[in-house]
Amino acid sequence: MTLEGRVAFITGAASGIGRATAVLLAEHGAAIIAADVSDKGLDETLGLLPKGSKSEKIMLDVSDSAAVNAAVAGVEARHGRLDIMANVAGIPFASAEDKRKVFEEMSLIVESLRERRPPSRPPEFLHHLTDADFKRMLRVNLYGTFYCMRAAIPIMTRQGKGAIVNCSSAAAFRGPLSNAHYTTAKAAIIALTRNAATELGPRGIRVNAIAPGAIDTPMVRDGLMPEFLNMLMQHTPLQRLADPREAAEAVLFLASDASSYFTGQTLEPNGGIHSGL
Ligand SMILES: NC(=O)c1ccc[n+]([C@@H]2O[C@H](COP(=O)([O-])OP(=O)(O)OC[C@H]3O[C@@H](n4cnc5c(N)ncnc54)[C@H](O)[C@@H]3O)[C@@H](O)[C@H]2O)c1
Repeated sequence: MTLEGRVAFITGAASGIGRATAVLLAEHGAAIIAADVSDKGLDETLGLLPKGSKSEKIMLDVSDSAAVNAAVAGVEARHGRLDIMANVAGIPFASAEDKRKVFEEMSLIVESLRERRPPSRPPEFLHHLTDADFKRMLRVNLYGTFYCMRAAIPIMTRQGKGAIVNCSSAAAFRGPLSNAHYTTAKAAIIALTRNAATELGPRGIRVNAIAPGAIDTPMVRDGLMPEFLNMLMQHTPLQRLADPREAAEAVLFLASDASSYFTGQTLEPNGGIHSGL
């Protein structure tokens, strides 16, 4: 499987799954456009690419539609093409207060599982969710995916070929153990992926998604209480977190010609999590 001559735009490339995707695609010969809000993280990622890789970094907030359009147009101007758009950037919380509330709910679940009793009170997340937090979550995780995908379409249409890979989550299928705005955004990404696949298939553009389970990245270490994470692993058939590269392998497959008859699909690198809990 070679990606020689292909140009890959990867968002969220400064950390975790996005970084692993950048490294893996570069190992297969793709030129890497690494985009993220973290300049330092981008530099670290570029430092991990195989020697001689073609690469550049772009400081980009994917929730800024105009900035996304400008960044993607710039890539076409400089490289003459865009073959792969991997939309990996995402956030687990919309604000510090949002994170506090998510952790409060998570601690109730942890306590009840630990003590094998019902939670001390029913969940109380949804009606405390603010307009601002709901919007921010959707802006980054869902709108960001849409903006990047939309910007790639004219270029891939001119080429008559392209592969878009979006990033959903196992949480999209498992509402009770996560939080409403995140799961909404991640579930919508699957619907968007299917819809785009239907529309863009006749133009030679394939659109797929991954829905990872628990991957060992800063997001999962920062976003889940350690005890919750342990319980999650115990209830995952493979009983461990994945290395980010194990999720990136799914992106590589969907981005490459090895998946030439796949579109509108969601691959789930999740250790069998749906067979667990
Ligand atoms: N780690 C997991 O277990 C897991 C599970 C399911 C889904 N996911 C999804 O995988 C993707 C990657 O997550 P990760 O675990 O590698 O997290 P991570 O925190 O390690 O990486 C996320 C990256 O996205 C970047 N980012 C955040 N907001 C951005 C914005 N507005 N514009 C551009 N970049 C932005 C961050 O700076 C960071 O580099 C996310 O979409 C996440 O929801 C992760």
